[in-house]
Amino acid sequence: MLVLGIETSCDETGVALYHTRRGLLGHALYSQVALHSDYGGVVPELASRDHIRRVLPLTRDILNKAGCRLDDLNAIAYTEGPGLAGALLVGASIAHGLAYALGVPALGLHHLEGHLLSPLLSKPAPGFPFVALLVSGGHSQLMRVAGVGNYELLGETVDDAAGEAFDKTAKLLGLGYPGGPALAKLAEAGVAGRFTLPRPMLNSGDLDFSFSGLKTAVRTVVNQRPLDTRARADIAAEFQAAIVDVLVAKSLAALHHTGLTQLVVAGGVGANRRLRERLSAQARRSGFAVFYPELEFCTDNGAMIAFAGAMRLQEESGFGIQDSARKGYTVRPRWDLEELSVPPRQPSADFSES
Ligand code: KG4
Ligand code: ZN
Repeated sequence: MLVLGIETSCDETGVALYHTRRGLLGHALYSQVALHSDYGGVVPELASRDHIRRVLPLTRDILNKAGCRLDDLNAIAYTEGPGLAGALLVGASIAHGLAYALGVPALGLHHLEGHLLSPLLSKPAPGFPFVALLVSGGHSQLMRVAGVGNYELLGETVDDAAGEAFDKTAKLLGLGYPGGPALAKLAEAGVAGRFTLPRPMLNSGDLDFSFSGLKTAVRTVVNQRPLDTRARADIAAEFQAAIVDVLVAKSLAALHHTGLTQLVVAGGVGANRRLRERLSAQARRSGFAVFYPELEFCTDNGAMIAFAGAMRLQEESGFGIQDSARKGYTVRPRWDLEELSVPPRQPSADFSES
């Protein structure tokens, strides 16, 4: 079975071809960073318009390179949510248009499910069940993953996501958009500990996070006096160390709590080198194994959507598989990952006659 994946939830247009027997046959990504950089962040309307321009040429390109034709596709998977409504609608509309024309199903997928399953694209891949640390621009969650579509929330951020904290702190330090990778780069040149920042909720006794206070603490330091490059690098290093300390401690706590031995890290912040080093070292010491997606599949991409679509099809769970010839479609800008695990609602008791 050959699945085309289309990702358009934010500022990256991603497409990919995943074959259930032959694996990933091709993928392409177009980043809109240059388009939004003058504005210091993503402009939703510009994002939608650019996705319209990119999806089909990129799709044609990967089909040609893989020696495949549109007719070879057995399903089209796309990101149904969460994300920017207009950007999601572009992917959904193209996916449903193509699916209708080809007479194949269109599968609306959860963006975070794509991230969550992306480490399974690499070798060696973890087996179910595992704990997943999902750290993206919009989410910071620890999940217990028992199988495709079986996700239990163990803990999450009570305010900002880890990636959001990276981006906002980067702005405070005068770094442009996108801030996370730039801050991580600046941190390489700095020394953690010269400035002291809090490790929020490190000892809260649960698996939740809080990152907004950390950004506020950086703002206080930045407002106290003018900072030279060295000081900015030291703050970046301390900020990164604080986030990493909390993510590592809570991930290990989640493994102890669940009794599981495998940890999967997914989402953009999972590309952070320092996080990977510390997490792998600490986990190894406790006898746990950690799995990461390839660096190129940490941030948004089409491969994770094509792959998650193929897994869904193979599971034959039927979840989200729509007959696009007959049904309409929608997008879900806000959508909790846990909702995927909710069993179909039972008909409620009818009290009308009592
Ligand atoms: O998963 P992703 O590409 O998009 C969302 O679904 O949100 O994650 C993007 C987030 C951004 O906040 C970005 O700053 C952060 O991931 N990020 C990083 C790094 N690379 C991307 N944060 C820290 N270190 C990095 N190397
Ligand atoms: Zn993402």
